[in-house]
Amino acid sequence: MQVLSVASEVYPLVKTGGLADVAGALPIALGRQGIAVKTLMPGYPAVMRIAEGATLRRTFPDLLGAEARILEIEHKGLDLLILDCPELFDRQGGPYLDVTGKDYEDNWRRFAALSKAGAIIAQMGLTGEPGSWRPDLVHVHDWQAAMLPAYMRYATEPELPSVITIHNIAFQGVFDAEIFPALELPPHAFSIDGIEYYGRISFLKAGLQTSWEISTVSPSYAEEILTPEFGMGLEGLLHSRSEDLTGIVNGIDTDVWNPETDPLLSSAYSAASLKARAENKRLVAERFSLDASDEPLFCVVSRLTEQKGMDLLAETLDDLIEHGAKLAVLGSGDKALEDAFHAAALRHPGKIGIIAAYDEPLSHLMQAGCDAIIIPSRFEPCGLTQLYGLRYGCVPIVARTGGLNDTVIDASHAGLAAEAATGISFGPLTTDNLARALRRAIRLYKDEKLWTVIQKQGMKSDVSWNRSAALYAALFSEILERKGI
Ligand code: ADP
Ligand code: GLC
Repeated sequence: MQVLSVASEVYPLVKTGGLADVAGALPIALGRQGIAVKTLMPGYPAVMRIAEGATLRRTFPDLLGAEARILEIEHKGLDLLILDCPELFDRQGGPYLDVTGKDYEDNWRRFAALSKAGAIIAQMGLTGEPGSWRPDLVHVHDWQAAMLPAYMRYATEPELPSVITIHNIAFQGVFDAEIFPALELPPHAFSIDGIEYYGRISFLKAGLQTSWEISTVSPSYAEEILTPEFGMGLEGLLHSRSEDLTGIVNGIDTDVWNPETDPLLSSAYSAASLKARAENKRLVAERFSLDASDEPLFCVVSRLTEQKGMDLLAETLDDLIEHGAKLAVLGSGDKALEDAFHAAALRHPGKIGIIAAYDEPLSHLMQAGCDAIIIPSRFEPCGLTQLYGLRYGCVPIVARTGGLNDTVIDASHAGLAAEAATGISFGPLTTDNLARALRRAIRLYKDEKLWTVIQKQGMKSDVSWNRSAALYAALFSEILERKGI
């Protein structure tokens, strides 16, 4: 089977969050299932830097008003199709935000162009010549690629089977209706069963409406988004398509995230040599200017946002320190939250440290040195940091929601008795319950034998892509079979 995967960020080239990790790792895991994936992504500067020697596959003299080309190159196991379009993607700043942190005003055009290029490749072939490469199925990720199935639906050529994966329904790509003519779609596309959304245009809604199947990144989140609390306005549409909605939990790249071989650690280790984590812990403490004492060292590696429940954590910090733990926070985002953690660090010198930055290497060292990672999310489609934590013996303390609920087994009496517990899970999410969960973690940590058991059980859990890639492969095959292809 041949699949075209389309995403706006792909690790290791461009990453702002878990989407990139998934878009980078899933195609390789699918390859092991006998599915050949080509990945289409925008030619941001960081991507164009690896494009030397790439093969030119196609030119678009006028892709929604811009000149563009498709280049193909192998990179770190990925078969990449790069949408080289300097007018839209050759910019200082991030993939979505300019250097001042504001959304690019033409994000609608940038990602509609990505989607349209994908639709043309899918329907007309990679080069457009007879017999050129064409996928059996298209897999698009999040709102930035969600217009692809809509472009296929409203084109004259036959549509290909498609799957849209929702990584976070909070981001929907909603724009004013006045952009409609520039999207170059027929007038009837602007309708309730098309791309129209309360008089505006929603890219995600367009994808959910026109994709053959809808998936999201955990079974729990697939249930949650059917409710008004989590569906962010799209629950009605999702209900009408609930037969076509499924949840598949993310895996992680267990080669990149392997404590036995990770070059970013000061001291490599395995489940049999957990004592060797101490050297990494010492280094983390040093980086965050924390006391080098034996107390439990908890960490946060996260975007600092409301989604991640960071405001609740900020409220429990005094209690956490009073009960004898330390905290290292790596994260950036909401300025008020950064300030709250900075203030807490000043109140508790040597006990709380914050580095307000995005630092991939440091995130590895923290998973390898800290005793636990705190993830008190209000909602979490899947979450990857708890999976890294499990793999690294950094015990996850998580809110019982979405993918966190599907991947961490609480150290309850039953969980411990069944020798299944891999972390601490609590709910419903309130400041009190979070504080209680953190105190429970501190108590468990003090029982060294028990803590080691939880660490080891976590390290044994299968967080690789194997199982989930097989589920995607089965879903793809099922779609092709069902449609008689
Ligand atoms: P989300 O995509 O919602 O941010 P995930 O848990 O799925 O949440 O993925 C976040 C990814 O980004 C993980 O790979 C995590 O390690 C990484 N990450 C988040 N914040 C930082 C940071 N400040 N520095 C380094 N890596 C980070
Ligand atoms: C989103 C979600 C996160 C998920 C990631 C990858 O960013 O917030 O929970 O793990 O996508 O699927």
